[in-house]
Amino acid sequence: MARVPNPTPQDIAPRLLPWFSRNRRDLPWRRTRNPYRIWVAEVMLQQTQVERVTPFYQRFVRGFPTVAGLAAAPLDEVLRHWAGLGYYSRARNLHAACQALVARNGGKVPADYDELVTLPGVGAYTAGAVLSIAFGQQHPALDANAKRVLARVFHLRGDSAAAQRRIERAGKAAVPAKRPGEYNQALMELGSLVCTPRKPKCDACCLAEPCRARHLDVTDSVPRPRRARIRRGRAALAIVRRRGRILIAQRPPEGIWGGLWEFPNVELSGDEDPAAALRHILRDEFALEAEIGPELGRHTYGIMSRRIDLTIYEAKAVRSRAHPRSHEGARWIRPGDLDDYALPAPHRRAADSLLR
Ligand code: ADE
Repeated sequence: MARVPNPTPQDIAPRLLPWFSRNRRDLPWRRTRNPYRIWVAEVMLQQTQVERVTPFYQRFVRGFPTVAGLAAAPLDEVLRHWAGLGYYSRARNLHAACQALVARNGGKVPADYDELVTLPGVGAYTAGAVLSIAFGQQHPALDANAKRVLARVFHLRGDSAAAQRRIERAGKAAVPAKRPGEYNQALMELGSLVCTPRKPKCDACCLAEPCRARHLDVTDSVPRPRRARIRRGRAALAIVRRRGRILIAQRPPEGIWGGLWEFPNVELSGDEDPAAALRHILRDEFALEAEIGPELGRHTYGIMSRRIDLTIYEAKAVRSRAHPRSHEGARWIRPGDLDDYALPAPHRRAADSLLR
């Protein structure tokens, strides 16, 4: 067997940058040095794939072209532009961070790590990405793709805190003084296109020569062995009608769908009957007596590491009662006005498939 290499962090950039020059994808946020726009893109990219982000990014920066523009917009409108991307706390944080920058920095994005990380939603990754890409500063930006590449090249296994620290230390030392932004994007790009979680394309990899995991033939188990752990659940949703209108309600501001609008819905435990569960929440949360009608459709959606089988019902409000616990955020709207509300993707699908 060929001798196993013992790479140093400085071995990476000279191989990676030429590869990136040849293979970089032409993406809208790569045509700008505007720190606000790069920030928006990096926030969107944190939990969402490049292809999916592109149209949302374009629409978002058209609607909110500057820090001040975003800060001045109502949160509801910001969420509406984000609807479909998921993880809505990202949008709420971005909005709050821009308001803070208008209040204390004239709406300018600071070119300083310590200042950036005081902003809501800005951690080491976002600060490093903005500083390196927009300002050319020598900071790492390690997303999961970049960490996987480093873990394999240096053969750093496991997800213990100590293993994470070793990856971060190597990642920091590997950032070059010249072209740090391109280097960071190249490392993430290599991780998403070549050094993939499963079946990495080692034959096409510019880091194959120094990669310890490849030489040891352990890319399958580094950073860690794969295991699928997806939990399944059931939920029911009601499209409740009353005099030509339908009922929606705004979620409280916290949580991943915080501030979005939704149809009354309930998660079902065990073999709980969906119609009975819906009747209960309509009574308890909305002070409504309702007849739950026929099933209108079903679909499955993923949220975090869960798959939820959702059943959609038609329902008719027969009586509403004065009730101390009636839902404050509830609203009866015309079906045609639904587009004015930011709905989580599964609710949007329920609306789209049923109301047209
Ligand atoms: N993932 C997150 N940000 C990225 C970027 N700027 N380039 C490539 N992949 C990314």
